[in-house]
Amino acid sequence: MNKSLLLALSAPFVLLALPSCSVQPTAADYDRMAQEMMKNSFVARGIATMDRLNPDQANDLCAQAEVAGQQLDDKTAQAIQAAQMKTIVPPADGRFLGDWREGELIAQSGRGLTWTDVATAASGGNCFNCHQITKAEISFGTLGPSLLNYGRLRGVTDPNSPEARPIVEYTWGKLSNPRAYNACSQMPRAGHKGILTQDQMRHVMALLLDPESPVNREVAN
Ligand code: HEC
Repeated sequence: MNKSLLLALSAPFVLLALPSCSVQPTAADYDRMAQEMMKNSFVARGIATMDRLNPDQANDLCAQAEVAGQQLDDKTAQAIQAAQMKTIVPPADGRFLGDWREGELIAQSGRGLTWTDVATAASGGNCFNCHQITKAEISFGTLGPSLLNYGRLRGVTDPNSPEARPIVEYTWGKLSNPRAYNACSQMPRAGHKGILTQDQMRHVMALLLDPESPVNREVAN
């Protein structure tokens, strides 16, 4: 191997090692190194651009707390939630619910946002990946709580009634930006990050809240 190639290959590692040469690297150093390594090895392709590697304030603070093995302090958590709450956009026409059948297809689909997808293609919500949602689908993740009987358990008999409004608004907010309610939520910010369109969110809302949806017609466990 020629000398300049060797130098070029080793340069990132030398740079990464420098800040911590005299003392043991801390967890934060390792975190920084990991970020540098990702930046050096990822390339922008199609719609998968490098800005995805830039953490926003919430990601940054939550990652720092996790690396330090600590919980976020209440004040920081509340500041993140307040800032994230401001990103929630209510449905343009005031309609919160669409068609649960469409919603189930969206919840099932984990497709989207890779470099082989085009910007105009609709993405999936990937909800089953983390939640039990219907009894019929037996393949689901358990990172998030079960959403079986989501509307029924919350007493929603008519999602368009004034009584249902608080839970309808909360669910819309949660789908838009879960960090507005839980600063370091692991759930994707489907609305805020443009993963789902408002129409798609309406369909997923119906899946969770329409009394006719299979979600609310399941016999309780
Ligand atoms: C990567 C995993 C993940 C994905 C994907 C995901 N969620 Fe979640 N979800 C969670 C976790 C974890 C929680 C609990 C923590 C929290 O509330 O932030 C949660 C909470 C929720 C809640 C609040 C439940 C309650 O009782 O308040 C709803 C509603 C919800 N998810 C719906 C959805 C829907 C609909 C989708 C698809 C558009 C989805 N989630 C996708 C992980 C996920």
